[in-house]
Amino acid sequence: MEEKKITIHDILTLKNKRKITMLTAYDFPLATLVDRAGIDIILVGDSLANVVLGLDSTTKVGMTEMLIAAKAVTRAVNRSLVIGDMPFESYQANPQEAVRNAKRFIEEANCDAIKLEWFDRCLEVTEEIIKSGIPVMGHIGLTPQTADKLGGFKVQGKDAEAAKRLIEQAEALEKLGCFAIVLECLPDKIAGMITKKLKIPSISCGAGLDCDGQVLVTYDILGLFERFKPKFVKQYINLAPLIQKAIEEYRDEVIQNKFPAKEHTFTIKEEELKKL
Ligand code: KIV
Repeated sequence: MEEKKITIHDILTLKNKRKITMLTAYDFPLATLVDRAGIDIILVGDSLANVVLGLDSTTKVGMTEMLIAAKAVTRAVNRSLVIGDMPFESYQANPQEAVRNAKRFIEEANCDAIKLEWFDRCLEVTEEIIKSGIPVMGHIGLTPQTADKLGGFKVQGKDAEAAKRLIEQAEALEKLGCFAIVLECLPDKIAGMITKKLKIPSISCGAGLDCDGQVLVTYDILGLFERFKPKFVKQYINLAPLIQKAIEEYRDEVIQNKFPAKEHTFTIKEEELKKL
């Protein structure tokens, strides 16, 4: 796999050439593997709240946790573009605070860009962040941070009026200068329509095949998050029982005095021992 660091320009030029790959990561070991596997974009997602911290909502994670995760990920990454996901309340109060927090992802955590979810003042905030020189990925459709305002965790854009609103949002974000947009939980035909209208790449998260790329939560595809599995997730391996088996084996070996074996043990010469 090529080692050259992926740039925003590379992501833009991938549209209509080949599909863009994106996954989440929140820690050093997993980010190392995702990067080494040749994934184009790593999102330090606020889904960290659910899959790592065991919280019931992404609104419950803040800048402190997100920055710790983002720093661990960028330490691991050589090639993938790394995006910091703006947590709820880090950008909603006012555009100035949003710019300040976006800068922390770039300057303190070494991220390449930020992502923020659509909300009432999204355009105003996005414009200020882009004006400050920080690349922004938009996120429309099912936006988990404000899911209560959307009637819960439901597929969005299911009637013509709602779909029209999403098309307008996508076009407005492109006009402001976003370099890509996540489309979450949309009917595939609507996502395809938005993708055709945009010059920038669309990234599907449960929005079908007709987008320019795909993103999923890595813990979901690895079978490491057992609380719920959205319809759009494909589990590529079920690691949870494998990990549990290994841990049980360790437990048994400790109890049965089989671990540590000779090769895991430090020794001292007999003559030194005798001096004691
Ligand atoms: O936080 C997250 O994981 C996301 C998704 C788009 C996967 O925002």
